[in-house]
Amino acid sequence: MIHNTDSKEDVYDAPGPKGCPFVGSLPSLAWDLLGFFESITRKYGDIVLFKLGRKHIYLISHPKDIERLYAGERKGQYTRKFFHEAYKSAFGNGIFNSYGESWKKQREILQPYFQKRAIETWFPVIREETEHTIQQLAKKNGSEVLHAEQAILPLVQSIMSRILFGKSLEDEDSQQAVMAINTVSQRTVVRSMLAFIFNGVLNRLPTPGNLKYQKALKTINQTINNLKLKAEREGDDKKCLMNQLTPLFDPQELRDHLFTLFFAGQDTTVNAIAFTLYYLGKYPDIQQQARKEVELMMSGKAHLDYQDLKHLQFTESVINESMRLSPPAYATYRDVEGNQKMGNTIIKDKSILVFSPYVTHRHHGVWKNPEQFNPERFINGEIQKLSFMPYGGGMRTCLGLNLARVEILTVVALFLHRFQWTIPDDFKVKFIPHMTLKSRKGIILKMLE
Ligand code: HEM
Repeated sequence: MIHNTDSKEDVYDAPGPKGCPFVGSLPSLAWDLLGFFESITRKYGDIVLFKLGRKHIYLISHPKDIERLYAGERKGQYTRKFFHEAYKSAFGNGIFNSYGESWKKQREILQPYFQKRAIETWFPVIREETEHTIQQLAKKNGSEVLHAEQAILPLVQSIMSRILFGKSLEDEDSQQAVMAINTVSQRTVVRSMLAFIFNGVLNRLPTPGNLKYQKALKTINQTINNLKLKAEREGDDKKCLMNQLTPLFDPQELRDHLFTLFFAGQDTTVNAIAFTLYYLGKYPDIQQQARKEVELMMSGKAHLDYQDLKHLQFTESVINESMRLSPPAYATYRDVEGNQKMGNTIIKDKSILVFSPYVTHRHHGVWKNPEQFNPERFINGEIQKLSFMPYGGGMRTCLGLNLARVEILTVVALFLHRFQWTIPDDFKVKFIPHMTLKSRKGIILKMLE
């Protein structure tokens, strides 16, 4: 339908699938979320309208529209609050789940702790934990198959625990926390979908799924509490983030931020590393080229230094290409405040805008041969603004992106330095969208001597 407006241009309603009565496109979304996003974008274009329950949802995929969204967000036209209630039992009012003025204040306080200079001070911890893990893995020589996520998760968890609390987790606590984080990640997607029907009441009932979720939250809270107590008792690292943040927040808000950082910093980073190792295993020539770069850097050196990272340009482009095709944060959303316009499409008040790095990173109008794994495009090619956004963008861009980048590059570089691997002939990745993007059967590497 064409709407007449005071501006000279007409504005249009976005096209999209009709969906089922009452639930809209929820069944298609629940069945295959990424497939649904891809197919409706292919069929209807860059802005697609569909319904979930009674809510209008717009999926936008062109970088130009994402740029418009971020510009509008700064003016208050878009915000992020729809899932606030669904996420509250986990993230409370921590920075990931807050909005408006309270988010602004939190961001101002937390931002300096995640700037490049601050992350540089954590580099020795990242390197030490990575070297330790690599030594442990090397000792297991002979077991030729490596489950990458299972190997990397305890590493990323140790790094995060030491940065936040100055302490590593005991093995048993670590295993329980890993399982609990998996449960929360998996259930959060279900909770997000259920938030669209009957005002999210199903998320509040004592169903087996909700009870499992609550139990997992309790485990993570306990883990964080144990770490906190241990840090307070043994107090040998005054500069850990918890100590730095304690005077700045009241105890409840501090808990919410610690939970958020502990959680947000793990699943995403682990999957980014695991997928990169997978692509390196799948493309031996690329692995060889990346290793050559690392070896050149490491020649005559006992350790990798922070300053070395900026010279690992090819290795970084492999990580970028992996995050293009397998972005851990595969989709996010904003609430629409008032009727808005995106190009000449009307975006209605109280609807939700969804944008998906998974879809945008494969946009045929933006990327040449998007399905092809080609790290060179990050070296030679012109990357259009916001066509590559694994860490989001705009004012709510990932708080931990400097930390994540350093962690991923360090782990991948030291892996290349120590190991060679391929992937089993019959192994294929099938994506599964939990809170972050995962491989349904994990990532399996075949280690070579
Ligand atoms: C590969 C690793 C990571 C990826 C791909 C990733 C991705 C993202 C994305 C896309 C967003 C923006 C979501 C939106 O616009 O709605 C985000 C936000 C956020 N990330 Fe990350 N992230 C990663 C690692 C981390 C780490 C290591 C931390 C902290 C330790 C972290 C903390 C956060 C927080 C607190 C937010 C919310 C920021 C705000 O709303 O102001 N992330 N992340």
